[in-house]
Amino acid sequence: MVIFKKVVDIQSFMLQNRAAGRTVAFIPTMGALHSGHTALVAAAKRDGHMTVASIFVNPTQFNDKADFQKYPTSVDADIAMLTATGCDVLFLPPVDEVYPQGTDSMPVYEFGYLDTVLEGARRPGHFKGVGQVVARLLDIVKPDKLYMGQKDYQQCMVVRNLLQQTGSHAEMIINPTVREADGLAMSSRNRRLTEPQRALAGIIYQCLVSIQAKGQQGGDFKIVQKECEDLLIDKGFKPEYIALADADTLELLDNYDNNRKTVALIAAWLGDIRLIDNMPVNG
Ligand code: PAJ
Repeated sequence: MVIFKKVVDIQSFMLQNRAAGRTVAFIPTMGALHSGHTALVAAAKRDGHMTVASIFVNPTQFNDKADFQKYPTSVDADIAMLTATGCDVLFLPPVDEVYPQGTDSMPVYEFGYLDTVLEGARRPGHFKGVGQVVARLLDIVKPDKLYMGQKDYQQCMVVRNLLQQTGSHAEMIINPTVREADGLAMSSRNRRLTEPQRALAGIIYQCLVSIQAKGQQGGDFKIVQKECEDLLIDKGFKPEYIALADADTLELLDNYDNNRKTVALIAAWLGDIRLIDNMPVNG
């Protein structure tokens, strides 16, 4: 794996490879890598692309300063994992390579309704920061494919919207959520869970499974929502939302609707760690 820290260096390397006719898949990450991340690299490799991962803990997408400060880093282990997965290129820039003129002069993208609902409502400015950094990274790497994880469902929708706004030719490929044995969605933040918290964390997945199962009969979602809320609170979580939404628009639904694709989404705090997860309910 070749590692670049400077924009000029990765750009000239990419130019040579593009001239050689290789299709390029890009996997942006914030590091502290786990199997959810490497599954994206592995999928891109399986699809026959040259794989370019990035590790950059983007300061502009952290609405909570403490979350930024506590964000785990493990660059050496990350490099070992990417190498073992067969990743071709790692872009590992310092902040001033990504934002040479600071962040204020960067274009700001608007995501309308998507930025007002669920994660957008609870994390003001988060998606604007994601849009800013993904636009910048795409401009540097200029990939043909962009591999992203379903774990961050709303982020995928935001980035799809960004690709339209910027006229990027990159095609987004969404990879299924990779889970631990108890169903907990893998996340860099999981490593901050204490042992007792970790033992409880799989309950979010159990809630999603029960929301999905009860959806088979249709009917009132609010009842299942309340059951999940009570269970999570009883186990010591602080749920932020337990939602059923249209899978294409994220319009929130009070009732199951078997005539359209829907997705269940949960965000909940366990101690000072915020966990999110989602699951398709039908379609
Ligand atoms: P990060 O949280 O590091 O995630 C990088 C990519 O890995 C995202 O596409 C995310 O959805 C995917 N991913 C994380 N956990 C996963 C899991 N358990 N299963 C499948 N995919 C998973 O998301 C970000 O970084 C940042 O917002 C970023 C897009 C890099 C912009 O800074």
